[in-house]
Amino acid sequence: MQKNNLMDKVVSLSKRRGFIFQSSEIYGGLGSSWDYGPFGVELKNNVKAAWWKAVVHHRDDVVGLDAAIFMHPKTWEASGHIETFHDILVDCRKCNERLRKDHIVAGKCPSCGASDFTEEQAFNSMLKTNLGAVESKDNICYLRPETAQGIFVNFKNILDSAHRKPPFGIAQIGKSFRNEITAGNFTFRMREFEQMEIEYFTKPDDAQACYEEWINLRLQWYKDLGLREENLQLRKHADDELAHYAAGCTDIEYQFPFGWSELEGIANRTDYDLKQHSEHSGQDLRYFDQPNNERYYPYVIEPSGGVDRATLAFLVDAYHEEEVNGKTRVVLKFNKALAPIKVAILPLLKKNSDIVALAKNIKQDLQKNMVCVYDDSAAIGKLYRRQDEVGTCYCVTVDVESLEDKQVTVRERDSMQQERISIDKLKEYLTNQLSN
Ligand code: GAP
Repeated sequence: MQKNNLMDKVVSLSKRRGFIFQSSEIYGGLGSSWDYGPFGVELKNNVKAAWWKAVVHHRDDVVGLDAAIFMHPKTWEASGHIETFHDILVDCRKCNERLRKDHIVAGKCPSCGASDFTEEQAFNSMLKTNLGAVESKDNICYLRPETAQGIFVNFKNILDSAHRKPPFGIAQIGKSFRNEITAGNFTFRMREFEQMEIEYFTKPDDAQACYEEWINLRLQWYKDLGLREENLQLRKHADDELAHYAAGCTDIEYQFPFGWSELEGIANRTDYDLKQHSEHSGQDLRYFDQPNNERYYPYVIEPSGGVDRATLAFLVDAYHEEEVNGKTRVVLKFNKALAPIKVAILPLLKKNSDIVALAKNIKQDLQKNMVCVYDDSAAIGKLYRRQDEVGTCYCVTVDVESLEDKQVTVRERDSMQQERISIDKLKEYLTNQLSN
């Protein structure tokens, strides 16, 4: 499939089937803002749940946090964002497009191809608002541009309350906001997006080993959830690309239809943040190592991923077209843990009230344990295709024989193989299949 064609197909399927919609579409839409529809929100929640499970619940050394979006304005002075969180912009003199300088390829404007630009100017990407009834410079508050700072300002709270000592990590999922200048590429670059970030605190001497370990762990996570290996690569940042706080950074990149692009960055933030917050708050954020009677600032390794980018990569990677009986079958081959719907219950004859009642009963029972849908609004062939298009793992068909032999047909999404399963064993069967 042509790459651009693939992206168009994913965007179109996302809208048609309710994964992702343009924000405020009835008013003409809002740039770089997207809404997740019924299947999209399930997929995105599953991505977040899989991440949380892997980095918090399946480890002994990471705890969770959910910090507020609004933070004391001094946070952003300390973190360096007020001074350095800038995009360098130029205007194209020919087409007047405002561009990020680092998005200009080979000295040419990506819109019109001209090479005549205005002087560079710095533009801070943080979004501001005012808190309280009066709009004044004294109550300016920023919408956080990264979730990380909520973790650093809670470092001491967590040390004290959770009795942690390095090495340990704090994980958080939450919204971040950036006034991105260059929009586009669907949900890849948004102004309001979600991050999944870990700040892993370690002894300075162990930081390099820890950095390498997290790069491998995070890359493996994407592979385990089904992203094809040939679509993943690591890219080490050159020194002049590094963020102001980083001593090293490696991106996990995915081969999107629009090119290799960053899914997640793993950075060595050194002791920059804890030192800065100590200085600006007057609180000592060093860790006291009692046995060695030593106080030190831990180094921080930060795996920082985007929920929306990961969701988009899983969606693109899952998209398949196959020829079946002379027709094209579109199927989203999601990993089972990510699939928005696990089981669809489909009555073969919607006019037969006994079949419909049995199918609805089966759904009532299964939905206590797995995400299910019931659909009787078309012929069975069409119902299967609809479920394939949203990546439903199993279809359960209830037919006339089911009323007699108390069995149903279970169809697996990728192989399309069908099996008769006894209704009283159905939940156990599906639970086993879904956990494989
Ligand atoms: N705390 C470090 C940090 O924020 P970043 O590389 O700026 O680092 C981390 O962002 C991740 O957040 C990126 O790898 C990407 O997945 C996601 N991200 C950043 N900006 C984004 C945007 N405008 N839209 C969607 N996701 C974004």
